[in-house]
Order: sequence, then C-alpha cells, then structure tokens
Amino acid sequence: MLKGKCVVIGVTGGIACYKVANLVSMLKKSGANVNVIMTKNATEFISPLTFETLSGNKCVVDTFEKKANYDVEHISLAKKADVIMVAPATANVIAKMANGIADDMLTTTILASKCKKIVAPAMNTNMYENKITQDNIQKLKYYDFEVIEPAVGLLACNDTGVGKMPEPYVLFEYILKELAFEKTMQGKNVLVSAGATCEYIDPVRYITNPSSGKMGFALAKVCMLKGANVTLVCGKTTAEPPMFTNIINVVSAEDMFNTFKDIHKNFDIIFMTAAVSDFTPVTVHSEKVKKHMVNDNNLELKQTKDILKYLGENKPNNQILCGFSMETENLLENSKIKLTNKNLDYIVANNLKQEGAGFNVDTNIATLISKNKSISFDKLTKFELANKIVNNILN
Ligand SMILES: Cc1cc2nc3c(=O)[nH]c(=O)nc-3n(C[C@H](O)[C@H](O)[C@H](O)COP(=O)(O)O)c2cc1C
Repeated sequence: MLKGKCVVIGVTGGIACYKVANLVSMLKKSGANVNVIMTKNATEFISPLTFETLSGNKCVVDTFEKKANYDVEHISLAKKADVIMVAPATANVIAKMANGIADDMLTTTILASKCKKIVAPAMNTNMYENKITQDNIQKLKYYDFEVIEPAVGLLACNDTGVGKMPEPYVLFEYILKELAFEKTMQGKNVLVSAGATCEYIDPVRYITNPSSGKMGFALAKVCMLKGANVTLVCGKTTAEPPMFTNIINVVSAEDMFNTFKDIHKNFDIIFMTAAVSDFTPVTVHSEKVKKHMVNDNNLELKQTKDILKYLGENKPNNQILCGFSMETENLLENSKIKLTNKNLDYIVANNLKQEGAGFNVDTNIATLISKNKSISFDKLTKFELANKIVNNILN
C-alpha cells in the first residue's frame, strides 16, 4: 500500500527503540522505501545494523560522515521524504525540534523538510508531564507536527503512568493515514454500518447472525484513508474497527434504526453493510420464552423496521446510498428489485453459496449494481473490494 513512498523514521534515545524495528519491518513489507536516522544516543539502545537489515537502506547517524557519493544527506533525505516519523521521541529531541535546534543528523533533516512530521513521545511520566515538555509539545502542534498521545501503562522505569510509546501497528496506521491513498474524499462525511444486531430474548441470550463487521470496516478504512470523515455504527463484531473513525456502538435493530434516524441526513455517502435481524422477540419474558423454546422452538417474534428502506425513502438530495444484499439464489434479479424498492443508488450483491464470499471471511465476491450498470468483481480481499466499490461510486 506504500509502494513508491519514502518514509523517514527518526529513532531517538529511549527504551522504546526496540519496538521500532517492528515498525520498519511493517513499512518495508508494505512497499515503502524506509530510511532510518538515529541519534547517537539511540545507538546505545539498538544497533543501526538492525534497521539497515530491515530497511535495506543505510541507517544514518552522523551528519559529517565521509561517503562515496556527495549528496548532502540531510537535504536529500528531507527532500525525498513523504513523511517523517520520530519514534520514540525523547523529551530532549522534542525540545530541540520545538525550538529549531539542528545539531545532529535527525534534527537537521527535520528542520530542512517540508513534509508531514509525526512525533511519538515516549518517556517517564514526570518527564512527559513536566510543563516544559508539555509546552514543547504544544509548540510542535502549532508548527503542524502531528503528536501521537502516549499510552498509559507500566513504564521501563517501573512507574505506571502516561508516557508509553504506542504499539508499532498503531504508529503504522498513522503513516498509512498520511500516505496510503490520494485524499479524494477530503471533506466528505461517510456513514457506515457494520456487524450484526443482537435481539435479546432474555438478559443473557440473544438472536444474532455471523456477520463479523469486516466488510463495513474495510469500507470505513478505505474512506478514512482517502480523507473522509467516517462514522461507524457498529453492532456485534469480531474484528477490530479501523482507527481514525467515530464509532457508535449499538445492540439491537431498533438501536441501529434510531441512531440512523437521528444522524443520516448529515452524510454524503452511506454504506449499510450491517446484517440486521429481520425479527425481534415481542416480549422479554424468560419463563415464557423458555417454555416456547423447549416445547416447539417457536419464539414470539415481530418484524423489525427496514432501516435501508427508511433511508431510501428519506434520502436528502445528493446523498449516495449503498446497500448490501446477501442472496442464495437469483442474485442479480433479487438485488435489482431491492435497489428499486428501497430507492438505493447502489447495491452490492454477494452470493452466500460461493466459497470465499459473505460472512466472517476476509474475501468477498460481489457485484456492484446501480440503475444503469452492474460490475462483477472476482474474489478480492474485503479491503480491495471496498476500494473498488468506493472508486466506482466516486467516478
Ligand atoms: C536506560 C535509559 C532509558 C531512557 N529512556 C528514555 C525515554 O524513554 N525517553 C526519554 O525522553 N529519555 C530517555 N532516556 C534519557 C535519554 O536517553 C537522554 O535524555 C538522551 O540525552 C537523549 O538523547 P537523544 O534525544 O539525542 O536521543 C533514557 C536514558 C537511559 C539511560
């Protein structure tokens, strides 16, 4: 996802240095050209050789090193970089960056660069909470550096508090957000529903379905990476929701309906991927339900509101509404009927009987249908499919 992008990682003298090896490896696997610059003190914690091996590039420490080629290295790296991340960022380097000090290779490159800079402070809680460090962090924000909140936890110094560097996958997501896609959805508000609703029979049991939320999460992530403001309405899910989205948790079909009813008009695009129960128990009455279940497995049920139909009937001008349909037969015909009856702009149809499609798998095989055309996609990961769906809808 980062093919053709140049990422500079600045590593400074904190104990969290060792975690950055993982980050460099993840970036390299994603296709990025990774260049690591270390402070001299960072080399006390981890060897440059580790980063050179993982990145395939020379790890730069010394500003005045004699080299075979005569690039002025801090300037050439500063120009090449699409993003610079300083992780871990010591209190010392934060202070230097905030005040324009450029006395080593890393701080000089940062001062010479125009790209986005992301900083992950990591230090002892007292150092972090010190007013001087806090003022320096404010200054960095003022100068358009993005500062990642450190996590709370047990620190290397045995104190428990704020100051822990977030895990490498979190740092990786910050870089992806910056570089993964062109920001073609900047300013667009997108609403996505994901997961399964749960219809409680009694306080401990509920009716649900196997939806994992993965398709909705993939769509939310693609839109977020393209610069949209994404709100996710989540039922029960087994996957991790994407970072940098606003999450509203719901339980039942009724909760989901009420949430949509309140907010749907604020959005430019809605993707309704959640698998919403069509039925819910009429009364929550444990003894009665138990009796029914034991005797004839026949719960007293009522139909839930058709959220997608409501959204289609109450669609503001210019809003794009995309539903999802899972069919076991007559996929295209049934989906086209839904498209018309529910006043949708698009419907993504998949056949539950096909291997690699539908619930709880990482892949899908789907057809995107609108009034005038339908496009069938081969088996793709849900993320790839989400990207194709979004690109088709935007063009
Ligand atoms: C074992 C050890 C762990 C340290 N961990 C941190 C840390 O997590 N964060 C920090 O700001 N400083 C930490 N320091 C202090 C820095 O290494 C020190 O301020 C150094 O001057 C930073 O150099 P640099 O910012 O040029 O890399 C640590 C020092 C030692 C000896």
